Amino acid sequence: MDNRPIGIFDSGVGGLTVLREIIKEVPNENTVYFGDTERFPYGPKDLRDVRDFVFKAAEFLEKKDIKMLVIACNTGSVAALKKLKQTLKIPVIGVIEPGARTAVSNTKNKRVGVIATKGTVGSGAYEKEIKKIDPQIEIFSVIGSILIEYIEKGILTGENLNENIKSCLKPLLKHNIDVLVLGCTHFPLIERQILEVSSNDFEVINSAVETAKDVKKLLIEKNLLARQENKANRIFYETALEGNFFKTGKMFLGSEIKEVIRTKLEI
Ligand code: DGL
Repeated sequence: MDNRPIGIFDSGVGGLTVLREIIKEVPNENTVYFGDTERFPYGPKDLRDVRDFVFKAAEFLEKKDIKMLVIACNTGSVAALKKLKQTLKIPVIGVIEPGARTAVSNTKNKRVGVIATKGTVGSGAYEKEIKKIDPQIEIFSVIGSILIEYIEKGILTGENLNENIKSCLKPLLKHNIDVLVLGCTHFPLIERQILEVSSNDFEVINSAVETAKDVKKLLIEKNLLARQENKANRIFYETALEGNFFKTGKMFLGSEIKEVIRTKLEI
């Protein structure tokens, strides 16, 4: 038994979608969330810079005595997961492999779409993970940075957003995909809108769900579960001076989020 918190990290509010699923899977675990809102967005940045940011954030969270780290950011996972796993003594989990695994098991026509950041799409990370499991699957990717900007600003509905969803998805629709991987942790916040705009043409994969299952599995395997009677404590940090983190977090997590502490990363 281990009551130390799980550390969860993203560039902004996106990782809250992973936190929500973790709360569903292991409600009595303490959590510390870190959103690097000052350096958001990670998607268009050089992956070497992103790797440095993720390492700094991991260092920050390690000082909070976490027992496990979840990189709840696809771009961050692409840039730093492998290296972090080799470096940290605690278990580290990313979001790409769980999403790829779910896509492979759910596609019937072996045509998978991915919507993600420039960094994630450019890295070919989903192609690699998916083809590792089933080389026959064809993958079609689009960049959805504009949608991520809307979400981070707390704009989760509206005509403008829908128009942008439509134009981001347009290149995918002609490929007859039956599964769409939300390859950025921000996207589950607009999952309903994505389905509506695309007339439910495909199934949407939210890798947060599978990631949270992996978290639980690993906690059990490593004998790291918190005591059953533990009442979860949730702490939130962000690096921007003024942002929409709290507002969006509240819309999404309700009473689970009571305050957000501002902090700085020495980069
Ligand atoms: N939520 C992050 C991801 O999953 C990226 C958003 C960004 O910072 O560009 O890739």
